[in-house]
Amino acid sequence: MNEANHEPLWRADTKLPSFPALTEQVYADTVIVGGGITGIITAYMMTKEGKKVVILEADELLNGTTGHTTAKVTAQHNLIYDQLITSVGEDQARMYYEANAEAAHWIKETIEQQGIDCDWQEEAAYVYTNDEEKEKSLQKEAESYKKLGIDGALVDSMPWKVPFKQAVQMNGQARFHPLKFLKPLVEYIVKNGGAIYEHSPAEDIEKGEKPAVLLKSGVKAIGNHVVIATHFPFYDNGFYFAKLYPTRSYVIAIKPKKQFPGGMYITAEQPTRSVRSTVYDGQEALLISGDGHKTGKGQPTAEHYQNLIKFAEKEFGIEKLLFTWSTQDLVPMDKIPYIGKADKDENIYSATGFKKWGMTTSVVAARILSDLIVNKQNRYAELFSPDRFKADPGVKQFVKQQSDVAATFVKGKLDYFFKDGDNLPVNQGMIINWEGTRAGAFKEENGTVHLVDTTCTHMGCECEWNDAERTWDCPCHGSRYSISGEVMEGPAKKPLKNLGELGDQTWQE
Ligand code: FES
Repeated sequence: MNEANHEPLWRADTKLPSFPALTEQVYADTVIVGGGITGIITAYMMTKEGKKVVILEADELLNGTTGHTTAKVTAQHNLIYDQLITSVGEDQARMYYEANAEAAHWIKETIEQQGIDCDWQEEAAYVYTNDEEKEKSLQKEAESYKKLGIDGALVDSMPWKVPFKQAVQMNGQARFHPLKFLKPLVEYIVKNGGAIYEHSPAEDIEKGEKPAVLLKSGVKAIGNHVVIATHFPFYDNGFYFAKLYPTRSYVIAIKPKKQFPGGMYITAEQPTRSVRSTVYDGQEALLISGDGHKTGKGQPTAEHYQNLIKFAEKEFGIEKLLFTWSTQDLVPMDKIPYIGKADKDENIYSATGFKKWGMTTSVVAARILSDLIVNKQNRYAELFSPDRFKADPGVKQFVKQQSDVAATFVKGKLDYFFKDGDNLPVNQGMIINWEGTRAGAFKEENGTVHLVDTTCTHMGCECEWNDAERTWDCPCHGSRYSISGEVMEGPAKKPLKNLGELGDQTWQE
C-alpha cells in the first residue's frame, strides 16, 4: 500500500487565508473564541446582523474538528430518534429533527445566496446493520421517523450493494466540502468589518458587564458578548467535563477501483463503518471512517487505520490510499448538544458536545447563540440549553462515565508498567517508570528521548500514548498533548510537566 498523506483531504485542497496573532487589546460587540465551523458561522450571522465581531483562534482557522470531519450534512445522526422519543418525548425529538433539518436547509440557502462552489450534493443517507440484535432498533427508528414526520423508512435495497439485514433511509440529505463552503464566509466576515486572529490561544475569561477574553500572551479582547466555540469549552462553569466524554475515530480517503453508486452510509453496530464519496483532484474519492473508541482507550491506534483499509479494499478495491486522519468528538450524556449561556448571569455563551454530527449542529448552535445575543426568540433554545439535565437515559450513562473516570484516575496511578524504556522503538511513545514516576517517553529518530509526566493537568488522570497521532491523550475528558507536553486540545490549559530530554547516549547508560 502506498504511503498516505496524514492530513484531512479538506485541508489539502483548500488554501485558506491566514491571519495575524492579536497583539493589542481589541473591542467588539461579540468576541468568538474558536475558528471552527461554529465560530465562523456564528460570526457570519452576527456580521449579517450588523454587529462587529472578533474571532480568536488558538492555532489556524478550521484546523480542529471541522477540518477533520467527514462532512455529512444530515439530520440522520445514526440511530437517535427512537431514543430521544423515549428520553425527552415526541415533541422534543421532533424539535431535534427540525432544528437539524432547518440547519441543512440554511446551508443550502447560503450556498445559493453567496454563489458558493463547495461540491454540494444531495443524496439519501442510510443506517444499516448486519447485527441481528440491532434489527429491532432499526425497526423502531423507522417507526419514529413516521411519528415525527421524517421523510424516510426501512428499505429492501440500497444503491451500494453491501449485504445488510436491515437498513433505514432518510431522504433529501447532502454532503459537501466544508472548507470550500466556509472560506467565502470568512471572506464575508472580514469584508464587513470583522477581525480574525490566529495563533491567539485564550486562557481565561474576565466576567463582567463587558466580558473579556484573556489570551495566554496577556492581551485582552473585550466584548459585549463572548461566545466559546472551542470544541471543549475552556470556561467550564457548567462542569461540562463531567457531562461529556471524548471519543476518537479514524478516516481514510481512497481512490476506489470500483465505481461508487452514491448515497451516504453508516452502520448501526460497532465498529462503525461510514462511507460517503467526494471529489479530490477532479476525481471521485471515498471517505471511509469509523473504528471509534473512547479517547485513550483504543488498541494501538495505527491498527484502526489498518481495519478501515482492510474494509475499503474488500468493498471497493483501493487504487490509491490518499489520506488518513483522525478526529476527536465530544459526546453528551443525553445525546443532545449543549448550546446556550455558559453562565446564566453573564453574557458568555458556549456550544459543545456535537457528537459526530457537527455540520448541522454547528448551524443550530450559531442560530441559537446569535438569536440569544440579539434578543430574538429561538424555539430550539430550551431543548439545547446547557442548564438542562435530562435524567433518562443520561443519568445512568453519567454515573457510568464518572465511574470510568474514577477508575481511570486510580488505575492510571497504579498502572506503572515498570518498563525501563531500553526497548522503546524510534518514533514511538511508551509509558515507563522514570525514577519512580509514571512517565511518557517518546524517542526521536536521532535517539533523543522526550520525557513528560503523564499526569493530566486538568484533573489528574493519566494520559496514554496515541501512536497514530503521536500525542499523549487523556481518557477522562479528552485533553491531548504533544510529545513534549504542550496542550493541543483542552480542557487542560497547562502543559504536561516536562521531565527533560535524554540524548541517545544517556538513554543507553
Ligand atoms: Fe480532565 Fe485529563 S482532561 S483529567
